[in-house]
Amino acid sequence: MKTATIKTMPSSAEGMGRVDGRLKVTGAAKYSAEYAPAGLAYGVLVGSTITKGSITAIDTKAALKAPGVLAIITHLNAPKVPGDQPEKDKKAGGKGALKIFYDDKIYYNGQPVAVVVADTFERALFAASLVKATYQAEKHITSLPDNIEKGFPPHGEGAYKRGAEDAWKTAPFKLEQEYIVPTVTHNPMELHAIIARWDADDKLSVWDKTQGVKDTQQDLARLFKLPKENVQVHSEFVGGAFGSALRTWPHEVAAILAAKVVKRPVKVVLSRADMFTSVGYRPFTWQKIGIGATADGKLTGITHEAAGQTSSYENFTEGPTGVSQNLYACPNVNTKYNIVPLDIATPTWMRGPGEATGSFALESALDELSYQLKIDPVELRIRNYAEKDPDSGKPFSSKFLKEAYELGADHIGWKNRKQEPGMVKEHGWYVGYGMGGGMFGAYRDRATIKATMKANGTLLLQSAVSDIGPGTGTAMVLIAAEQMNMPAEKIKFELGDSSLPNAPTQGGSATTASVGSAVYKACADLKEKFQKLIGNGGTDNPDYAKILKEHNLASLDVITETDGGNGMQTYAMNSWSVHFVKVLVNAATGVVKIDKVACVSDCGRIISPKTARSQVIGGAIGGIGMALMEESVIDHRYGRYINNNFADYHVPVNADIPQIDALFVNKPDPIINPMGAKGMAEIALIGMAAAVANAVYNASGKRVRELPITPDKVMG
Ligand code: MOS
Repeated sequence: MKTATIKTMPSSAEGMGRVDGRLKVTGAAKYSAEYAPAGLAYGVLVGSTITKGSITAIDTKAALKAPGVLAIITHLNAPKVPGDQPEKDKKAGGKGALKIFYDDKIYYNGQPVAVVVADTFERALFAASLVKATYQAEKHITSLPDNIEKGFPPHGEGAYKRGAEDAWKTAPFKLEQEYIVPTVTHNPMELHAIIARWDADDKLSVWDKTQGVKDTQQDLARLFKLPKENVQVHSEFVGGAFGSALRTWPHEVAAILAAKVVKRPVKVVLSRADMFTSVGYRPFTWQKIGIGATADGKLTGITHEAAGQTSSYENFTEGPTGVSQNLYACPNVNTKYNIVPLDIATPTWMRGPGEATGSFALESALDELSYQLKIDPVELRIRNYAEKDPDSGKPFSSKFLKEAYELGADHIGWKNRKQEPGMVKEHGWYVGYGMGGGMFGAYRDRATIKATMKANGTLLLQSAVSDIGPGTGTAMVLIAAEQMNMPAEKIKFELGDSSLPNAPTQGGSATTASVGSAVYKACADLKEKFQKLIGNGGTDNPDYAKILKEHNLASLDVITETDGGNGMQTYAMNSWSVHFVKVLVNAATGVVKIDKVACVSDCGRIISPKTARSQVIGGAIGGIGMALMEESVIDHRYGRYINNNFADYHVPVNADIPQIDALFVNKPDPIINPMGAKGMAEIALIGMAAAVANAVYNASGKRVRELPITPDKVMG
């Protein structure tokens, strides 16, 4: 028995579906809101109807008399959250997470001012409608374009310079353009939900939608001043999140406070409208790109400015200008990033945070430049291909983006694209092709796995990691099956509970690299233990159950921790992608129909082909939404979202989704981890919006620089 490096997956892997697929499609998978601990009560939040100011009074008399009402909690009667420390906040310049029911201050429209708890959800909902708050309103600001001058660089930084500043200005071919990415809301199908139960005065259990049970455990322990082990967080299934469940939000604290007051478990499920104000969003971001090149298409300078919105009480930052610093081998790059505080809730990371926004601007600008230069957009990118990291000068751990360009161009039929826009019209529809590239850091974090071989020859792997949908359990089982040389059906991966061994939050496309490395090493350690038992009599095809029986053992286990690796010291590590799209633009109405999509990812070796394909398709669909439909619209007179429901906030439905082909370069990264796998979640979306915008221009000759690309903009 030897520890072999994985080269190819067993052929059964090609067809292996999700290990939890049956549970999900039969409804047997339990999501946070579906647990029903004894005595469960229901909390409904009441949101502020003003956007800025203070609460002058809250009349709860009628609501308290409504049937089934157990309690109404407001800032006037809420128990203190011991971890809310005003003195610490002063040090941070008064900035910090929103403290629910803390004082009379209103920072955004929809901010919870009360939670009504009743014995049924319907009774709580009705009573909530009877709570009457009165306010002292102050003048509010919610529009980024109108307040862009209020921006400041985060942490006094936000600027970057390589080579000469504004070098693009002296280039023979150049352009300067502004691009807008509006506020976009994650809107996973599963609403955010929590059930909180106090098991004793100092013991808390929650069933909570979260991307990281360990992070949530730590947050709640800090907020309620409890020993960590007294807080249990369960989150076995998560119905999508895309970043919205990366942190602890006020509604979670509301449920925990309510459970304390009524001495019963309390469930709080956000409404779809609450999802727009309570769990973050992709921030409205203005960008300006100046870009210049020589006649033969060599980039001489990029200037990238961005201003993104944040709340008045917290500085949210992301890296929209990062792509301009790193995607191309350009000698002169300067970028500037400001955040603009508005009277809105704090944004948060959303799939491809920063890069998705930045790549829309950069990859649109590059496309615009390609028409000036009369150089094919793919060729233009190849002429500026970065062979090493343009910023640090480090070699890449792996980069097969050229191969990705080739695969995608071939697959979409790029040779049919006309360089001149508006040249192809079929049955009243213009036909065009576009492409856009993406990159995202390939990260890896510390993780621990407990691996137990049981007497019946089944293997149990345990980790606290969450699975928000990509199919984490499936990938981990496949890694273990290969390592242990045993059938995947005999392996179970247990996850999503804070009592399990440490794992990082599922975010930043890092789970397979992080937890997968721990699975890989744990299996190697376990095999070594078996090796010791059997001495030299080992084979490559061990019967683990038989060995345990022969040695009178009920089971054999290991607990293995792996660190984040040290590749970053020597290498620049990224995943890369390119999206190619073919679109149809209706000549009479401006409606854009996506005809075909080819997404090519260089994300190292593919562990689980089926779930990888699904994840890329999901990312591309998110990109279609970002490109053509999604925008959370505020009526700035009231500071309130006006399309905070699925009738008015459009996400792609099946009729909007064409054939999407997920292609993989599928070459292992030799540095990042023993499996050679890099992240794929973020790069599945990054670059897609630009690809669509570029295809719309190629089809119709109309350049749309403000997302989403709705018919009025195409015709305008
Ligand atoms: Mo992702 S934005 O790290 O969930």
